[in-house]
Amino acid sequence: MTDSRPVGIFDSGVGGLTVARSIIDLLPGESIRYVGDTARCPYGPRPFDEVRGFATEIVDWLHGQDVKLVIAACNTATAAAVVNDPVPFPVKVIGVIEPSVRAALARTHTGSIGVIGTEGTINSGVYERLLHDMAGERPLTVTSQASPEFVTFAEQGRTNDAEVLSVARNVLAPLIAAQVDTLILGCTHYPLLTGMIGHVMGPDVALISSAEMTARAVFSYMVTHDLLAPEHTDVQRAFYTTGDTGSFISLAQRFLGPRINRADVDHMATQERA
Ligand code: DGL
Repeated sequence: MTDSRPVGIFDSGVGGLTVARSIIDLLPGESIRYVGDTARCPYGPRPFDEVRGFATEIVDWLHGQDVKLVIAACNTATAAAVVNDPVPFPVKVIGVIEPSVRAALARTHTGSIGVIGTEGTINSGVYERLLHDMAGERPLTVTSQASPEFVTFAEQGRTNDAEVLSVARNVLAPLIAAQVDTLILGCTHYPLLTGMIGHVMGPDVALISSAEMTARAVFSYMVTHDLLAPEHTDVQRAFYTTGDTGSFISLAQRFLGPRINRADVDHMATQERA
């Protein structure tokens, strides 16, 4: 059995594009409907009731677009509407938190795990709770740090300037002091700053991207539930923003990965072998 309907993905803005990109990498034959709620971004400082309302509105809209499942590509929306007080959505919704928790537990050697995310996600304690629940008896130290500044930088397309470096040093200082060996990027905007976060944390700290882990979980879900699109489906990817379309397009092009055009490709002649 196959299912040619598109996969729905939503986030408060461009952060969920990191999930969309991983989905495109793993499932290139799938059509996508992406919603970036840039007009109401950031979700992080908002009360969970409000975020739950936004998630309900967007999932209902995607359901109306006949998607086969929805990925809540936003940790804040996942914490508010999928994990803490689940909304009875009309379509299957997969969140981004559990896949990262599993990956972090599989990766850590020392049991010292760091989590960074929005104020909403960190203050809800959702990661700490799930990490401890899923670790069982295993000793674990979890150090959490809200870092809303990274969301602003990502939405502005800033990933590597001097201010980003200085903020990253400040924000990540408690995690370095706690000697975490694994750091969960608990906000889908953060993989856009992987270079800077990895640079500040150092090469021995494993970074867990909720985007990549979620894409793997979605892949497995679709295989086990016979939801993959049939071969040779006409793949259509559509992106919607509640904010300004122009700035969304330029950021989306940058973060989804630039295309290679005919004009960029040339032939290189090599010496013939004897
Ligand atoms: N990308 C989002 C997350 O994963 C939210 C960022 C925000 O809107 O504050 O939590």
